[in-house]
Amino acid sequence: MLRTRATTAAAVALALGFGPAMAEPADAELVVNEELTITTKAPAAAHLDGALSEIYSGWLFREDETRAMQMDDFDNPMFVYAEQGMDAWNTAEGSEGKSCADCHGAIEESMKGVRAVMPKVNAAGALWSMEDYVNSCRTERMGAEAWKWNSDQMKNMTTAISLQSRGMPVAVQIDGPAAEFWERGKEMYYTRFGQLEMSCASCHELNAGNYIRADHLSQGQINGFPLYRLKDAAPVSIHQRFVGCVRDTRAETFGAGSQEFRELELYVASRGLGLDIEGAGVRP
Ligand code: HEC
Ligand code: HEC
Repeated sequence: MLRTRATTAAAVALALGFGPAMAEPADAELVVNEELTITTKAPAAAHLDGALSEIYSGWLFREDETRAMQMDDFDNPMFVYAEQGMDAWNTAEGSEGKSCADCHGAIEESMKGVRAVMPKVNAAGALWSMEDYVNSCRTERMGAEAWKWNSDQMKNMTTAISLQSRGMPVAVQIDGPAAEFWERGKEMYYTRFGQLEMSCASCHELNAGNYIRADHLSQGQINGFPLYRLKDAAPVSIHQRFVGCVRDTRAETFGAGSQEFRELELYVASRGLGLDIEGAGVRP
């Protein structure tokens, strides 16, 4: 069952139009191409300390038609972008005349499971998102230019890589060298921002299941990313979504690729421990 706390919602309801309605997530199973079952519902990880009792993928909060698009690769618009990412994977670029494939081989083998552990601490002790790994290979190993975080090329590539982890459980590390980043991400998740003084938790923990304007609020999980937004008719990255949500609180937002958002990404990913990576979701 979802927990709601009506008390916190009063001022917020006025400002944003939370509806009185509350609806359970869909009672549905995500089976892709009639063969791959993806876990979209699980008991909450112990580190959530009872803040949520069950965790749900955003997929479960969408309408039937939107959910159906993610159940068949022919209907999922992300596959067009994934194909472009695959082409780039095999294309030599930069002063070294190398392609990703020249070093990594087949994407299906070398990138299997990579999305599930991102973001993760690199050899130098910094927390890196998938985009950072891609750009470091481009600039340090290929002699090519970095791609902008939310560029088409970057999203095509992260889509192609993420699909190689489809159906695998979220597996981010949150202890050891990752602990300090995770702690900061957690603090940010509960920090109230903007004129509306709202945190991520105000919407995605306390009000998950409620309606805000026409939107059925999910838990704001990121296991479905990168994903296609029908509204934008384009793929959306994790940090891009964070920017949009912070802006909704009428706050100045951190940028895509900021250290703050890497840490927030790690913490939000860890709230989804128990769910599977969807590879490439579809949302309204
Ligand atoms: C010159 C060889 C080379 C090229 C070309 C190259 N990479 Fe890499 N890449 C590496 C090495 C070496 C690592 C580090 C492997 C490790 O630490 O396990 C790495 C790591 C990565 C990682 C992180 C994987 C992980 O499990 O942590 C990603 C993602 C990645 N590369 C993507 C790409 C993409 C996308 C391209 C093409 C745009 C590319 N690489 C081009 C050599 C290369
Ligand atoms: C004012 C309410 C509000 C706040 C505050 C808010 N969000 Fe959202 N968020 C939404 C709405 C509405 C959606 C679209 C419906 C949904 O999936 O919940 C959304 C969607 C998302 C999604 C996409 C989930 C999916 O599966 O499609 C993520 C991830 C997310 N939010 C993360 C965050 C994070 C992290 C924060 C804090 C920085 C945050 N949100 C703050 C309202 C909010």
